[in-house]
Amino acid sequence: MTSFRHIAVLGYGTMGAGIAQVCAQAGQLVTVLETDELRIDGGRRQLAEFLDGGVTRGKLTDEERMRVLDSVTGTTEIAYLAGVDLVIEAVSENLEVKRNVLARVAEAVGEDVVIATNTSALAVTELAASVPNPGRFAGLHFFNPAPVMKLVEVVRAVRTDKSTVDTLLEFSERIGKVAVEAKDRPGFLVNRLLMPYLNDVVQAYDDGLASAEDIDVALELGLGYPTGPLGLLDLIGLDVHEHATRNAYQATLDPQFAPPPLLSRMVAAGHLGRKSGRGFRVAEGNSE
Ligand SMILES: NC(=O)c1ccc[n+]([C@@H]2O[C@H](COP(=O)([O-])OP(=O)(O)OC[C@H]3O[C@@H](n4cnc5c(N)ncnc54)[C@H](O)[C@@H]3O)[C@@H](O)[C@H]2O)c1
Repeated sequence: MTSFRHIAVLGYGTMGAGIAQVCAQAGQLVTVLETDELRIDGGRRQLAEFLDGGVTRGKLTDEERMRVLDSVTGTTEIAYLAGVDLVIEAVSENLEVKRNVLARVAEAVGEDVVIATNTSALAVTELAASVPNPGRFAGLHFFNPAPVMKLVEVVRAVRTDKSTVDTLLEFSERIGKVAVEAKDRPGFLVNRLLMPYLNDVVQAYDDGLASAEDIDVALELGLGYPTGPLGLLDLIGLDVHEHATRNAYQATLDPQFAPPPLLSRMVAAGHLGRKSGRGFRVAEGNSE
């Protein structure tokens, strides 16, 4: 049995705060690395808000909330990560930023500590090259919001050792998640299948197959999906999906990933979904 007493999370943003909460709720000590104190305060606020919501909804007791807050410490000092049992990287989605922090953290934690990245769109194999002993490096892809979403993807890079995959599968179980294994290909497993589906729906809508509302109702009631695809796009952010599917297209030249023209036009117009108040299903709807 691997010991997962102390976990390092890199980045105290949306995902870092959620992952820290999941680990702390499972009884682990968590140290979260950030760039400055203001961001540590921001991450802690997010964590506290999420926990407050859990208490209000009766999912969590006040004592558990306090215990989780006590188990998570923010730091700007990489040296404080020495001695951790596992590192989960969730810093900004930027190759150079990730490479830089991974190389420095790898030096601080020692040769054998498993290091996992939560990247959604970068190649895990490329990030693995930032650390000495890349056999201990893999993807551990959480979904947003991390405390709520049950699934994680354990992503095997070209040089990932089997023991690293096994460690991450065991860890996932320990924190109450269900893990699936995926190859290091654009979108891994879930997003690899989701991106072409969403692109196809946008194209069908642009072709005039049905109204936005009817498309969503049809897929919700006809297939039992909890959310229709156009409402889902509004939630994800049209820009976020456009960026991800464009990257996948550039990496593969597979036409199923090519962003449909309407999607790109809506992003260019600032119609980004819920966050901008206009999208396929929100507020005034799209203007085409
Ligand atoms: N948001 C999502 O829905 C989602 C879902 C799954 C995976 N991801 C992935 O998770 C990662 C983080 O995404 P996010 O949405 O939490 O981003 P975010 O912008 O909310 O948070 C990133 C945090 O990283 C910090 N950071 C940047 N450089 C750092 C450094 N050198 N050391 C320490 N901290 C540093 C930033 O200050 C910021 O607080 C990305 O790789 C993203 O692809 C995001």
